[in-house]
Amino acid sequence: MTLLLTGVTGTLGSDLKKLFPEAISPPHSEFDICDKPKVDEFFKNNHIDLIIHTAALTTVRGCEEDKILATKINVEGTKNLVDGLFHSNPDGYFVYISTACVFDGTGFSNEDDIPQPVNFYALTKLLGEYELKKLRKSLVIRTNFTGRKKWPYPKAFTDRFGTYLFSDQVAKGIKLINPLGFFDFSKLEKNSFCLITDSGTIPEEALFFQKPCVTIRTTTERPEIIEAGSNILSGLSPDNILQSTQTITSKKPDWQWNKALGDGKTARKVLNILGGNLY
Ligand SMILES: NC(=O)c1ccc[n+]([C@@H]2O[C@H](COP(=O)([O-])OP(=O)(O)OC[C@H]3O[C@@H](n4cnc5c(N)ncnc54)[C@H](OP(=O)(O)O)[C@@H]3O)[C@@H](O)[C@H]2O)c1
Repeated sequence: MTLLLTGVTGTLGSDLKKLFPEAISPPHSEFDICDKPKVDEFFKNNHIDLIIHTAALTTVRGCEEDKILATKINVEGTKNLVDGLFHSNPDGYFVYISTACVFDGTGFSNEDDIPQPVNFYALTKLLGEYELKKLRKSLVIRTNFTGRKKWPYPKAFTDRFGTYLFSDQVAKGIKLINPLGFFDFSKLEKNSFCLITDSGTIPEEALFFQKPCVTIRTTTERPEIIEAGSNILSGLSPDNILQSTQTITSKKPDWQWNKALGDGKTARKVLNILGGNLY
């Protein structure tokens, strides 16, 4: 898997580079995301499977003072990368580091809340998010962090609500795993605490391994797994997913797996049929 990491000289980018040393990570001086012909040429010469895009104009004051530059880097620069990936590898994955500042900062926010950027920086980051909509596979991380360095200002702000992390903690939260084959994936399921999935088959496998499962859908073609007690439908709301995970992991389900998965005698029946004996 080939990873392109942007913003490698920045606070988060440099922490990510430590975790993903194999990433292609050209600094701004060699790869300006606003230079569309250069970006297009880059994607022509490199097959990229995944982008973690951290490059941005990040100073709130800088964005207010130069709105054209802020738009160029945060919106058009993001668009150039999205287009480059889209045209060179439509199945590629794009991780966009956005900001919690897309919300107004007056309290806790959910992903479902309507963004309300209160400054130009946040507005450009939000517009950058919208650029990802044309991709099949993308992830927006609306985070807040600070580097592990001395606070450079005489005072901190007092009128903004936030849940801050250090940049190395945010970097460690981004984990990449290659797609797994059937046996490795089964092992992962077998050793899991709880499975959260949008798949139709994984709930069946979860029941087989006697693991609680949350299906993030509103319907399922396998209602018998729900009746068997090991699976719950949560829908897509983050609150419901969390609540359903708590519910399904807090009770010991009645593992009636034979009710849902058959009586365990199918192989013998198949053998009999192949041997010419219709049981
Ligand atoms: N820091 C925060 O509190 C915070 C909170 C939430 C979200 N975020 C988001 O997280 C990401 C990383 O933030 P950060 O604080 O780590 O950023 P940062 O330290 O300000 O670093 C920004 C990086 O982007 C590069 N860059 C700027 N313009 C570029 C261009 N035109 N082409 C290529 N590279 C360019 C910079 O390179 P040069 O220095 O060489 O120009 C630098 O490496 C950003 O997208 C930001 O919006 C940050």
